[in-house]
Amino acid sequence: MTQQDHPQHPPRDDQEVDVPERPVPTAPVTLVTGASSGIGRATALALAARGHHVVLVARRREQLREVADACRSAGGTADVAPCDVADDGAVAAVVDDVVHRHGRLDAVAHCAGLVTYGRFEETSPDDFATVVDVNLGGSAHVSRHALRVLRRQRHGTLVLVGSLLGHVAVPEMTAYVVSKWGVRALARQLKIENADLPGVRIAYVSPGSVETPIYERALDDGGRRSVAPPPAVSAEVVAAKIVRHLDAPRLGSQTALTNYALIGAFTAVPALYDRLVGPGFRLLSRR
Ligand SMILES: NC(=O)c1ccc[n+]([C@@H]2O[C@H](COP(=O)([O-])OP(=O)(O)OC[C@H]3O[C@@H](n4cnc5c(N)ncnc54)[C@H](OP(=O)(O)O)[C@@H]3O)[C@@H](O)[C@H]2O)c1
Repeated sequence: MTQQDHPQHPPRDDQEVDVPERPVPTAPVTLVTGASSGIGRATALALAARGHHVVLVARRREQLREVADACRSAGGTADVAPCDVADDGAVAAVVDDVVHRHGRLDAVAHCAGLVTYGRFEETSPDDFATVVDVNLGGSAHVSRHALRVLRRQRHGTLVLVGSLLGHVAVPEMTAYVVSKWGVRALARQLKIENADLPGVRIAYVSPGSVETPIYERALDDGGRRSVAPPPAVSAEVVAAKIVRHLDAPRLGSQTALTNYALIGAFTAVPALYDRLVGPGFRLLSRR
């Protein structure tokens, strides 16, 4: 085990976090989940380029090590903390370890997520549960343990990455859509509950279509290959938005103008939206 690898500790009985009184490092300490790929990887690199110390969370250790090397080349410092965000105890251990090592946690960019395709009744209960457990449960676990620290410090920003599909509905993605509507609700709830501490800020970023490996890594392709529907943006564009939200969490959450167009149609002309979304979605994103 290298210096950069965090051991997986069992969860503590008491949920108090020990924040040691010691000189704090000058670099902001930022935890990034989903850091082994796509938006999380691009966010970690963008933060490293700004001099952050990034703690990289995902399940695949080797990919995290590669990202950590890239972060160091970009000008920051990095630790890797392999963890399944659907496991509340594992998330608690990672957060505790960050505080133990660095004495603080300045920000969390929660990007981990996955997708499955197929009609609802053909989606296996296991795949449905996994998508909800990782996307919504993971957001709750990361928020829970991040907020324990941020509220105690009275300082820090939590950014939750949701999706345009947390604002509209599309066919053959029910598990994902349900999970992302939940993430949006969670972010809204947390904004209200944490409004008493001005130094603790909750932000929510809602990407539309983004060119990342999430499509090819779908749990189930539902019988057809999926691609990022055009117009897709790069992971770096979304990462830049996440980084801006760390500075100013009250920015708008959507990452593309097309998001607003779809949300507008979904809200203003639901019958027309419902008729067109199926054929349009299949044409643009399913092969
Ligand atoms: N790409 C898009 O078009 C798009 C659009 C809207 C929203 N989003 C959202 O953006 C976020 C990032 O997605 P992406 O497009 O960058 O996908 P990606 O390239 O597939 O990256 C997903 C990341 O999540 C991690 N992850 C998945 N399950 C995990 C688990 N159980 N525990 C810990 N980490 C886990 C993956 O790492 P490991 O496999 O190593 O664990 C990977 O680092 C997701 O929340 C996604 O829903 C994406």
